[in-house]
Amino acid sequence: MLPGRMLTVAKLTDMMKCPACGHGGLELREGAIACRDCGHSLRVEGNSLLFESAQEGLSAEWQAQQDVAVPEYEKGTEESVDALSRLFGGFMAISLRRDHKVLDIGCGITREVPPYVRDLGLENYIGLEPLMVSNDPHYPKLLGAIAEALPIRDGVLDAVMFATSMDHIEDIDGAVSEAKRVVGLEGRLYMWIGIYDPDIIARTKAFHNIMLGSRVKKTLRFLAAHVEYSYTLWQMKDRRKRLAKGIRIDPYHCRYYTRENVGTSLAHWGLEAVRSVEVPNTASLFVEARPA
Ligand SMILES: C[S@@+](CC[C@H](N)C(=O)[O-])C[C@H]1O[C@@H](n2cnc3c(N)ncnc32)[C@H](O)[C@@H]1O
Ligand SMILES: [Zn+2]
Repeated sequence: MLPGRMLTVAKLTDMMKCPACGHGGLELREGAIACRDCGHSLRVEGNSLLFESAQEGLSAEWQAQQDVAVPEYEKGTEESVDALSRLFGGFMAISLRRDHKVLDIGCGITREVPPYVRDLGLENYIGLEPLMVSNDPHYPKLLGAIAEALPIRDGVLDAVMFATSMDHIEDIDGAVSEAKRVVGLEGRLYMWIGIYDPDIIARTKAFHNIMLGSRVKKTLRFLAAHVEYSYTLWQMKDRRKRLAKGIRIDPYHCRYYTRENVGTSLAHWGLEAVRSVEVPNTASLFVEARPA
């Protein structure tokens, strides 16, 4: 992203609505953005606008999930994930314009923009992230805000993105309805969804294992690939059975998407897929959707 051309927090006031009273008249006042109607005030810290009480609506279970997640996110991502992330950028670049106003819902806790927007040169990119990890981001961020209650006025954005965040959001129906509200009828929703089909996961794991690591490791893994594939397939089928019974299978996710339920979910949300791509050997689905 080109420094200097980016949006500043001060300019966000035009797009925002007050999280307390819902009115649109926000203005910048010494180190804060305040509501002209009710006086509610949001602290500005560098590029972050702080929503200190927005998470109160979320459950204790969600809070516990985040405690497990933060150290994981802080470890950073592998090279292969970085490449996949940039591929999602390429997918969006087909229809996303540089001057589009875009909100990244669940943008993560990194200081730099995520890899999927790194090469897009977006001039009006805003991140939204509930985890209050204050790390002086190099892009405007609604820190502490949540997908279920976007502090954005109706129809002022051109697009929103969910990059591997949909399976972390507690009330996904509420979040998608909010996303539709802020982009209006002409807007676009870009989704990067991890898919939990046993066969895809098993193939992905086997594929990664023989592609990564030292030569010796790769050779041994290559020899063991079939066993690994069969084992993962068995493990995933077992997980699906547990999921069907409503048993939680890991501490991170609220739900799991599969090829089938992405289709039914889109219909349920009143969205129509414009384009979609299943990325081979990654268990990832990219979708561009619009209000149906
Ligand atoms: C797997 S991370 C993805 C981060 C980033 N988009 C990326 O791909 O590098 C999922 C993100 O969703 C966020 N998230 C969880 N619940 C959320 C909610 N209710 N509203 C918005 N984001 C949420 C998490 O805090 C986390 O940063
Ligand atoms: Zn207000």
